Amino acid sequence: MGNRDALKTALSTIIDNAVKFTAEKGHVIIKMYSENEFLIISITNSFDKLSAEDLAKIFEPFFRTEQSPAAGSGLGLAIAKKIVERHGGSIKAGNSEEGLQIEVGLPMTGER
Ligand SMILES: Nc1ncnc2c1ncn2[C@@H]1O[C@H](COP(=O)(O)OP(=O)(O)OP(=O)(O)O)[C@@H](O)[C@H]1O
Ligand SMILES: [Mg+2]
Repeated sequence: MGNRDALKTALSTIIDNAVKFTAEKGHVIIKMYSENEFLIISITNSFDKLSAEDLAKIFEPFFRTEQSPAAGSGLGLAIAKKIVERHGGSIKAGNSEEGLQIEVGLPMTGER
């Protein structure tokens, strides 16, 4: 249950980032699975590890890391976070072996 257009905006924002921040010959890995009544969508792209400070701020409006290789206003992830949270879900960012990972968890049942 959810707002189709809003969820589409949230996911396409995250995927757009993954594509635009990946260097040539890098990769984007998208995984989707269910876990305890939650739908987990994980989007990972090749990227150097981000500092703990950057990871903590990445969802703040207008925040962009110093190593941002592509243009942007720094709003995409802040909007995606709001949309996910309005659906009772959560979003987090972390470094993984494969690069920067953004993980969205959305409840598969319940209120809109
Ligand atoms: N997939 C990613 N790989 C590497 N860095 C990322 C990734 N996603 C986000 N970031 C970092 O987090 C910052 C914030 O992302 P966000 O999507 O909010 O802004 P943006 O892409 O710069 O601009 P906008 O989305 O508003 O056009 C980015 O500028 C970049 O520094
Ligand atoms: Mg963006």
